[in-house]
Amino acid sequence: MVTGGAGFIGSNFVRMVLDERPGWQVNVYDALTYAGNKTNLDGLDGQRFSLTQADICDQRTLDAAVRNCDIVVHFAAESHNDNSLAFPWPFVNTNIVGTFRVLEAIRRYGKRLHHISTDEVYGDLELDDPTKFAPDTAYNPSSPYSSTKASSDMLVRAWIRSFSIQATISNCSNNYGPYQHVEKFIPRQITEILEGRKPKLYGHGKNIRDWIHVEDHCSGILTILDKGRLGETYLIGADGEKSNQEVIELILELMGKPRDDFERVNDRPGHDLRYAINADKLKHELGWKPKYTDFKQGLKTTIEWYINNPSWWKLQKTKTEVKYQRLGR
Ligand code: NAD
Ligand code: TYD
Repeated sequence: MVTGGAGFIGSNFVRMVLDERPGWQVNVYDALTYAGNKTNLDGLDGQRFSLTQADICDQRTLDAAVRNCDIVVHFAAESHNDNSLAFPWPFVNTNIVGTFRVLEAIRRYGKRLHHISTDEVYGDLELDDPTKFAPDTAYNPSSPYSSTKASSDMLVRAWIRSFSIQATISNCSNNYGPYQHVEKFIPRQITEILEGRKPKLYGHGKNIRDWIHVEDHCSGILTILDKGRLGETYLIGADGEKSNQEVIELILELMGKPRDDFERVNDRPGHDLRYAINADKLKHELGWKPKYTDFKQGLKTTIEWYINNPSWWKLQKTKTEVKYQRLGR
């Protein structure tokens, strides 16, 4: 069972599982919020795939779905920092209360859980900090998004310790790839250019994110499901550190525009400076390796996907830019 399986990473994960695990059945459990899209799951094998449209906060419906599965991979979340700064409540509700509901269902029916989280729970690093985030780094979240994800991780850890549930956690860095909502940094810039506008860089643009292709995140999760030790936390990252300005310049270059053809817009309040992951535990203990080690190539195929799928993003684009206009970003 995959909560949030109609979203960006969840739908990529479901496709990978159905391709690579012929014996597995997948039930996607998703409320189809503004971020969930049924068409992300178009064309999947109806014999092995089903969709339950429901909220993870609805304990009765959730219990019925969890009772019928073996493993829950829990992606469902409110996932965008800018939204969390404008309206924090859905983040508290889905990320904290919703994860509590998932944990209670797992405990009741004795199922295995893998909880998906983010490196943003660790706060941010200085640009020249020689250490990266590791599994023992102290939590220090900055935004309503990252603090609610940190809270959900803490709940999972407490349920492991107090109730001996069978669970693992992964904290991954920033993902990119097909089916990512246009509110996020990379697809926003690609689609701004495709609509004839300039990319939008927040503040000074020196902020660094550690980019990983979504398929590498998904293969990391499958590795943890196969070989991960119960009760453990694994960090997933692919040594993809780039400043936001570098990423925008690369997108412009790949789309045949001058590298300086972008706008500087208002910064995000509390904007984290740098994230960076040390994924040694996943690599050395479980033998995982990322496939997309050439960021420029991964970005090129991602740009091609947005060029080839305008009907997928056009409607969400209009709504998203109305939101950004109100924020002055
Ligand atoms: P997304 O916003 O694209 O998808 C979230 C999905 O969850 C949507 O399909 C939505 O409909 C569903 N959902 C939201 N609230 C729900 C609720 N109450 N009940 C049921 N379904 C609900 O998010 P994403 O980028 O695919 O992220 C998935 C997970 O990965 C999140 O937990 C996020 O914190 C984590 N993560 C994301 C990134 C990233 O770069 N995007 C990096 C690390 C970790
Ligand atoms: P985002 O995709 O929102 O991910 P996160 O906040 O989880 O890291 O943003 C990635 C980085 O890009 C972040 O430093 C904010 C910045 N950013 C811009 O410069 N311009 C934009 O239009 C957006 C959406 C983000």
